Amino acid sequence: MKSNKTILLGIESSCDETAAAVVADEREILSNVVLSQIDIHRLYGGVVPEIASRNHVEAVDKVVKTALAQADVSLRELDAIAVTYGAGLVGALLVGVSYAKGLAQATGKPLVAVNHIEGHICANYLTYPDLQPPYTCLLTSGGHTAIVNVLDYNNYDVVCSTVDDAVGEAFDKVARVLGLPYPGGPQIDKLAEQGNAVYPFHSVVTVNGNFSYSGLKTAVINLLHNAEQKGETLSKADVAASFTKAAIDGLIERLSEELRRNGAHTVAVAGGVGANTYLRARLREFESRGLRVCLPKLSLCGDNAAMIASRGYRKYLNGEFADLTLNACPTLKLRGQKPHC
Ligand code: KG4
Ligand code: ZN
Repeated sequence: MKSNKTILLGIESSCDETAAAVVADEREILSNVVLSQIDIHRLYGGVVPEIASRNHVEAVDKVVKTALAQADVSLRELDAIAVTYGAGLVGALLVGVSYAKGLAQATGKPLVAVNHIEGHICANYLTYPDLQPPYTCLLTSGGHTAIVNVLDYNNYDVVCSTVDDAVGEAFDKVARVLGLPYPGGPQIDKLAEQGNAVYPFHSVVTVNGNFSYSGLKTAVINLLHNAEQKGETLSKADVAASFTKAAIDGLIERLSEELRRNGAHTVAVAGGVGANTYLRARLREFESRGLRVCLPKLSLCGDNAAMIASRGYRKYLNGEFADLTLNACPTLKLRGQKPHC
């Protein structure tokens, strides 16, 4: 049944989740289907790009049809088709992009190209329907770590970012040296709750106010190696808790500084690490400073297509449509940062 709402189909295939969703007016989820390939990639200790692409090819049509059926929306009732075109794995992105282009061509619906990172930020609108820019967002995913001032629905000011690994990447790498299965972030999260932060690792904030995770990762590896050489057994829970504290406290410290500087009234989080228990608790502390703290639902922190459809809404309203020349852009940056393609 066609309503007077603007209805977008979102398609997401940038990494190891094949996802499709139907969203009305940017903020109302009608369906949100995520088919995870984690069980397949766990066998290899991380995402194998070629395997990810092949699985997206097999899954994408089924996932899109399921999302439309669950939303009880037909292709004819869609206003537009939004698809992630970057950042991510090139082969994986190409599956979603090619599928979306085909669907747009066959149905005559407008095609909207969405930046995956902007999508993560929009997970906040799906959780807090009244949220409006400006606000400050801590972006914490497997590929990105940044503090972003969301100036309006289409403009972002990147205050600082990581100079090497992203925070999620650091979680995954440390989990690996602790012998935990992929993806390591949620595993470290669980383990850290049972431990104490007894190892004082250095801050991840660099002198110029950006973040660096490679030193922290090396410090954890050295701690484990030294203990092994001495024949000592360390508590994995204590290592997980100490790593988590160091990885998150630096983000909070830098975020706190930026919030004081810019006088924002609202702070939000975006990306997979936004599901972390310790990070969410530390962010809630900003409430005592009178700030509104937005924490997306756990199901919307990781990769999903509802956030892609949500981001597509404003581009649709602006008439920013893609055509059949749309290509995957693996190194796409946030607006305000130089895009690489
Ligand atoms: O945003 P996301 O789903 O994908 C990217 O766009 O990169 O983020 C995935 C990252 C992975 O590194 C994963 O280990 C991490 O988010 N992650 C977590 C938690 N849940 C997912 N890290 C720490 N604690 C968690 N609870
Ligand atoms: Zn993501």
